[in-house]
Amino acid sequence: MKPRVKGGRRLWTTDGKLPGVTDYRTHARNAAAMWGALSKGYGAILVDSAEVRIVAPSPHHALRAIVLDPWTNRRCTIGSILDTVLGESGLARRVVEDASGEFDLSAYGLEPRLRMTVMAREPGVAPECCGTRTGVRAVTVDDAERLAAAERILISIFPPPAASDLHGRIQPTRVLGIDGWRVWLAYRQGVPAGAAYTYHDGSSLGLYQLGILPEHRGHGVAGAILAAVIRRYPADAVTLTATDQGRPLYESFGFTALSKAVWWRPNHKGDDRAEGLR
Ligand SMILES: CC(C)(COP(=O)(O)OP(=O)(O)OC[C@H]1O[C@@H](n2cnc3c(N)ncnc32)[C@H](O)[C@@H]1OP(=O)(O)O)[C@@H](O)C(=O)NCCC(=O)NCCS
Repeated sequence: MKPRVKGGRRLWTTDGKLPGVTDYRTHARNAAAMWGALSKGYGAILVDSAEVRIVAPSPHHALRAIVLDPWTNRRCTIGSILDTVLGESGLARRVVEDASGEFDLSAYGLEPRLRMTVMAREPGVAPECCGTRTGVRAVTVDDAERLAAAERILISIFPPPAASDLHGRIQPTRVLGIDGWRVWLAYRQGVPAGAAYTYHDGSSLGLYQLGILPEHRGHGVAGAILAAVIRRYPADAVTLTATDQGRPLYESFGFTALSKAVWWRPNHKGDDRAEGLR
């Protein structure tokens, strides 16, 4: 980067080239901002330090601790996590998202629930080959009907605990008005086949919960959503946490692995069977 002078202040310019995403923290910050945005007016941010953000986004979402920096003030960070995640919150589902994979919380009453790969794609257009299949199209959602269709798909792929009806609660109508929040819906042969959502935190884009109904898999539906997302944000880095199933797809779109994330949950036999993915 070269320094340049403007208005008497020394600024740094990148000459149009943005610095790349070099570590998992970009994704952790995006996730923290995303859950914070969802909690506004409906939930609470319980802890908000440089090291961890702990959010209860709504009565229908899991209470979650998002680790931002596993090294600084480590004891204090673990203390905050234990106080909130293991404390009495009235919320059955609780999760600690550690994108760094550096924490070992097994001595504190938590167990690893999911291991996923944090991935990033530098800004740039989608490869031309990707995301075009006959009969498949991806759109952004801007009305309640399409939102409900997208949410139905997300709930069926990342299912809620038995006996609770979360329709209209996981992607409530208000997400349509959250700055930076965008829900994506893909159709195959005219029927809703896949969905995802993205959050732009002002510097990068996080992609969340890309899921395709089993009967529509292998027909380029996920590719169509990814291509649409990348086309919509050509100047932004995109980050995500990939399941092993999703990883080959992301690699084919130029995503690279940054870290192995571990998601922890209390090691009881409670009712948080929802994969922790909401
Ligand atoms: C992973 C998932 C999203 C893929 O959806 P899909 O619609 O079947 O994927 P697509 O058909 O668009 O695949 C696009 C490309 O990804 C690659 N790909 C997808 N799945 C792959 C696999 N299992 N192995 C190798 N390559 C794969 C292929 O290169 C494919 O390219 P092609 O179009 O030339 O065949 C889908 O299986 C799913 O919903 N799984 C459950 C939820 C999940 O794990 N989501 C990911 C969360 S991060």
